Amino acid sequence: MQIFTTEKDLKLFLDSLRNNNIALVPTMGGLHEGHLSLVDKAKSLAQIVVVSIFVNPTQFARGEDFDDYPNTFDSDKLLLESKKVDALFLPSKDEIYPHGTESDYKVGDIGQILCGAFRPTHFNGVAQVVRRFFEIVNPNYAIFGEKDFQQLLIIKSLVKNLNFKIKIESIPTQREEDGLAMSTRNQYLSDLDREKAPHFYSVLSDTRDALLDGKSIYDAREDALNTLSRSFEVEYLEVLDANNLTQIETKTTEIIIISAIRFGGTRLIDNLVFRRKNV
Ligand code: PAF
Repeated sequence: MQIFTTEKDLKLFLDSLRNNNIALVPTMGGLHEGHLSLVDKAKSLAQIVVVSIFVNPTQFARGEDFDDYPNTFDSDKLLLESKKVDALFLPSKDEIYPHGTESDYKVGDIGQILCGAFRPTHFNGVAQVVRRFFEIVNPNYAIFGEKDFQQLLIIKSLVKNLNFKIKIESIPTQREEDGLAMSTRNQYLSDLDREKAPHFYSVLSDTRDALLDGKSIYDAREDALNTLSRSFEVEYLEVLDANNLTQIETKTTEIIIISAIRFGGTRLIDNLVFRRKNV
């Protein structure tokens, strides 16, 4: 695995390989099995796999965990080497934002709901850095996890709006054995909170089962909110059309239950997508 810290060197390396398909896996480090599944997907799609590690300051608001974001570089590097990743891109902030961090691309309304209502600048920051990576790497494929479902839809619309010729692929949320969605931020949980955390996913699963059994969306959502708020501080829980995160209509077949909670100072997100039967 070759390591690059500058745009120039990475581009030189990739330009000699453009007769292959190139897949990009953007990350902020703190790698876990979920990230490695993204790499596996990338490997299945392309001959050349580039992984970036960059903790992007513009997607964190003041008071969020930018300064404390887990840095596990040594183990990240070993994991990526074991997966035979071709290039690891480790840029500095100046390399990514040589002209400052202002950005003209705004994600629009989809960035203001759900997580965006609680983190109003977050998705503009994500779109800004992902656009930069797309311009630098110019991959054929880019791979993202479905745990960050809202982010995934925003990146798909970025590709469309800016006419990138990049195929966006995703992989399902990877879970621990007890159901907790894998996340770099799980490291923040105390032992006790880690034991309680899988309850988040079990409430989402019970809500899906109740909806499939015919419970109304209104009642299922109310019940889920009540149950979750007994254990966690709930930011939001919504039952929406999974294609565009809008309200469910009679024609909607793909449904998402999507939620964010906080407990013990840690913010966790999760979602469950399923098909409605008999519509
Ligand atoms: O999902 C993430 O880890 C980040 O939001 C991303 C896509 C790498 C952009 O910084």
